[in-house]
Amino acid sequence: MCGIIGYVGPRNAETVVIDGLRRMEYRGYDSAGIAVLSDGVLSARKKAGKLINLETELEVEPLPSAQLAIGHTRWATHGAPNDVNAHPHLSSNGRIALVHNGIIENFAELRAEAESRGAVFRSETDTEVAAQLLGLEVADGTELGDAMRAICRRLEGAFTLVAIDAAEPDRIVAARRNSPLVVGVGEGEMFVASDVAAFIEFTREAVEMGQDEVVEVTRDGFRVTDFAGHEVQGKPYHVDWDLSAAEKGGYDWFMRKEIYEQPKAVQDTLLGRYNAKRELTLDEIRIADSDLKRVDKIIVVACGTAFYAGLVAKYAIEHWCRIPCEVEIASEFRYRDPIVTPNTLLVTISQSGETADTLMAVRHAREQGAKVVAICNTNGATIPRESDAVIYTHAGPEIGVASTKGFTTQIAAAYLLGLYLAQVRGTKFGDEVAAVMAELESMPAKIQQVLDNTGQIHALAQRLRDTKSVLFLGRHVGYPVALEGALKLKEIAYLHAEGFPAGELKHGPIALVEQDMPIFVVVPPRGRDQLHDKVISNIQEVRARGAHTIVLVEEGDTTVEPYADEIVYLPKASTLLQPLLATVPLQIFACQVATLLGHDVDQPRNLAKSVTVE
Ligand code: AGP
Repeated sequence: MCGIIGYVGPRNAETVVIDGLRRMEYRGYDSAGIAVLSDGVLSARKKAGKLINLETELEVEPLPSAQLAIGHTRWATHGAPNDVNAHPHLSSNGRIALVHNGIIENFAELRAEAESRGAVFRSETDTEVAAQLLGLEVADGTELGDAMRAICRRLEGAFTLVAIDAAEPDRIVAARRNSPLVVGVGEGEMFVASDVAAFIEFTREAVEMGQDEVVEVTRDGFRVTDFAGHEVQGKPYHVDWDLSAAEKGGYDWFMRKEIYEQPKAVQDTLLGRYNAKRELTLDEIRIADSDLKRVDKIIVVACGTAFYAGLVAKYAIEHWCRIPCEVEIASEFRYRDPIVTPNTLLVTISQSGETADTLMAVRHAREQGAKVVAICNTNGATIPRESDAVIYTHAGPEIGVASTKGFTTQIAAAYLLGLYLAQVRGTKFGDEVAAVMAELESMPAKIQQVLDNTGQIHALAQRLRDTKSVLFLGRHVGYPVALEGALKLKEIAYLHAEGFPAGELKHGPIALVEQDMPIFVVVPPRGRDQLHDKVISNIQEVRARGAHTIVLVEEGDTTVEPYADEIVYLPKASTLLQPLLATVPLQIFACQVATLLGHDVDQPRNLAKSVTVE
């Protein structure tokens, strides 16, 4: 995933573009670049590494003043992350500067054609093909909008393209397929970008671009067409994120800020879900109740943390709706020839709504006739646009690469869906739905209680900062929490960590347990079943082998005291809602260990916020 911005208007275009790139650097930071058009001449500067490297370059080799510019931060897919492969790419005839997000799958054959027509390539990227082809088109006399449409009809894969032509001093042309693009509408100025965060300090009026569309932008307006040139209407909307919501707000990391935003994020996700008759309603559910009643299987598809949220949701959905619920890694789903029918409901979970693996799974399921509900945090993203219905989490921008409020709000939204299905299918009475909703609505305050007592976790992080391996155990909904706790530690502290079903340890992994090895164990609330006692037995198993046990358990449960080296007490909650609480100490632990180790918590190595390539 890359960050893209284009600007045309009265301001200093370089300043607008560089500031916009800074707000999108989380989208990818292998390289950054900018191109400006001044007095009919295109000038570009681009550097590998983070944006600061480009800014240093601009001090050494300033660009001419300009009112038209495009910029890019890259997460490399084709071509090493070096200066020459950085965007923008210029056509060898000097006419075109272009930036790109996505993958052009047929770039090899197109490159051969462009070379045969005289283009001289400098990079090994797929992107340069688009720049060179556009350069050839405009050199032949085709105006930029028609030239963009012509090449888009030939490109295969995923792309957001933004281009400027040296012969057109006031125009930007952009196109999208399977990759984000939004227009920012200002007064006498216009923006195009991957993400509204790039321009909301200048305007909150945005236009959502649809699939296979081209937008032609001047400072006074814009025009949207499909790839064939037929005019289409973009979807205008008002951006309600404050700039501060996309800034750190005083925290050291976006991730830490987002951990502390969880009470509000969960609360906002639950807001406004009742109608006047106290029945659950869900925004943009465009699936008839009659279709929902016919659903005989649910398949949840997602990646990473979103997949773990799906694993949590599975227990609730099967318990409430009595429908089989499978949870699949999106990148595996469509290759296993899954059994999908018109009575299958596919639930896709994605914070960004742009994850390519998940998007392709959605398309595959729709081709098989399934209805699709998207749980997503990004308004207007590709996945919800291609789904039949959407439940937006209202977590606000999640900038830190490691997902935190995304996870807890995904669980909340998935529970809303489960309750809605139970309500529609009659597997739960209204008062039962209301009871669960009431407890859900009490969770933000309980999450805040956990956040108000992080001293113990910070001390634990200080003691364990040099550990080399950590295990996480849980049963039932505690198992996906264990997986998520391990993933957080892996992705930002770069530590070996693994989550296991607590009952699985004796089937092999217990051989990993060594003296003083830290093992986190999520203990379910005491209830009707043996779940609680079995986890206590699992704690004893590892303690007997020398493990250093850190036990997360609800306040007042003293049964664990004889077996726990550390006890993290959680506010009381029912089994299915405990993940919203148990996850938080694990997020804080990972964030603190990574901070102590001096890592870049918001932009961990090798990762990007949303993976828009398969
Ligand atoms: C989680 O901390 C990771 N950043 C990653 O696993 C992420 O959850 C996954 O890539 C899915 O992203 P999405 O929710 O935007 O689809």
